[in-house]
Amino acid sequence: MNILILHGPNLNLLGERDPDIYGKTTLDEINAELQRKSDSLKAPVRIFQSNHEGSLIDHIHQERKWADALIINPGALTHYSYALRDAIDAFAKPTIEVHLSDILKREEFRKHSVLEGLKNVRRIMGKGANGYYEALQDMVGAGL
Ligand code: DQA
Repeated sequence: MNILILHGPNLNLLGERDPDIYGKTTLDEINAELQRKSDSLKAPVRIFQSNHEGSLIDHIHQERKWADALIINPGALTHYSYALRDAIDAFAKPTIEVHLSDILKREEFRKHSVLEGLKNVRRIMGKGANGYYEALQDMVGAGL
């Protein structure tokens, strides 16, 4: 099972950005752990971060035949990017939306995710970096 992992805008600053909310673990550390887990689970991953909506969408398109599943933290795009929603809808394979923080317990504008209602998407949130590891484990456990 091949898994595409995408990190959206500002997640390159993890570790220094609002550590009280997002934790002190850097994106490099998260990605290294995801790679270790991918090796031990024998589930190849391709990991990509971008601050640009179009690059994330291009990536989903480029990898759509290779990837059997998607794990994505869309950052703030979660709350307004219908273009990203359409790309994930068109991808149509199992997808987990990961948020380090619990978006339902934060500002009003963060409470809504445009991915709500997509049949192929479920959400893990409020577990910090562990949310990514759980998502990977769950995908492989589901044996898709
Ligand atoms: C986030 C939550 C978003 O509201 C925010 O814009 C982010 C990170 C999270 O991981 O908790 O950039 O997706």
